[in-house]
Amino acid sequence: MRAITISGFGAEPELSDVSQPSPGPGEILVRLQAAGYNPVDLKIADGMLKDAVDHRFPLVLGSDGAGVVEAVGPGVTRYRPGDQVYGQFQHPDRGLGSYAEYAVAAEDGPVAAMPAGMIPEQAAALPTPATTAAELVETARVDVGTVVLVVGATGGVGEFAVQLAADQGAHVIATAAPGTAAALERLGAAETVDYATGSVPEQVIAAHPDGVDAILDMVTPTSGIEALANLVRPGGTIVSTIFALNPDALAARQITAVNLANRATPERLAAIADMVDASLIRARIERQVPLDEVPAALAAARRGEARGKTVFRI
Ligand SMILES: NC(=O)c1ccc[n+]([C@@H]2O[C@H](COP(=O)([O-])OP(=O)(O)OC[C@H]3O[C@@H](n4cnc5c(N)ncnc54)[C@H](OP(=O)(O)O)[C@@H]3O)[C@@H](O)[C@H]2O)c1
Repeated sequence: MRAITISGFGAEPELSDVSQPSPGPGEILVRLQAAGYNPVDLKIADGMLKDAVDHRFPLVLGSDGAGVVEAVGPGVTRYRPGDQVYGQFQHPDRGLGSYAEYAVAAEDGPVAAMPAGMIPEQAAALPTPATTAAELVETARVDVGTVVLVVGATGGVGEFAVQLAADQGAHVIATAAPGTAAALERLGAAETVDYATGSVPEQVIAAHPDGVDAILDMVTPTSGIEALANLVRPGGTIVSTIFALNPDALAARQITAVNLANRATPERLAAIADMVDASLIRARIERQVPLDEVPAALAAARRGEARGKTVFRI
């Protein structure tokens, strides 16, 4: 099968021909129609998980995808060939991922029926960003009237965090690059702050002298997180998707700090599908790239030239 692989950590991704996987007991084989790019895909290619899990090379990159069940392994009861599914398909220990014509998933793993009426390219944009955003909003106990700052709101995770927090009835402050404020307001942001031209903490405290109840942060490194955490009122919560927080230090100020490691579940994916069906959230796709152009698209992403969500057509 055709797939985008790397021959070792840090190697250039390339289009190659690798063996098609077969589903083991309790697994489904999925003929993927689309894969979603996430920044973590390149981090894994660079060895982020090398001390945590085994990797087999050539390693097919990618986690998120959507497609059609081609075959099922022994004992599978939830799915049948022909079912449309979406989810996460990463198995570094088997050299398998989602930038490929075929992938496998455990039937009770992070997969679910694809949202009805949704095309695979849109479904592939959902799994990691939308489930992470849902977990962020839940972790920060975002509710009606919560004043929540989303930092990195223009990104894959951030756009869903804005939508989900707004759906809960929160007052959402979103970081916006010049020209992106209107789009974020359409997604539900009540206010935007321009991160490109000014200090986010200074802008937020000027508009909210009492601070905010929660911060969902996708981009701020440890060196800058203290200034943001100072915005959180005692009793509030700050969550980082890039492990920038020191929870013990903030606990002393009655602030709950969480470095979130998302674990997508079938239930969470099914709930996301329902929200998409109900038009409560939507994926905004910036570009669709055919499989043979993925290496160039990944190189552009590395150079920071790929604003907005990228989906690969398989
Ligand atoms: N822990 C977990 O379970 C988990 C799960 C999902 C994602 N993540 C991580 O979370 C991060 C975000 O993921 P993503 O998919 O949302 O990435 P993304 O799509 O690349 O989004 C990042 C966004 O942040 C914006 N940004 C850059 N610098 C900023 C700043 N100083 N202030 C405010 N916004 C800024 C970027 O805008 P520009 O385009 O203008 O630079 C971009 O829109 C990644 O590091 C990813 O690996 C972790």
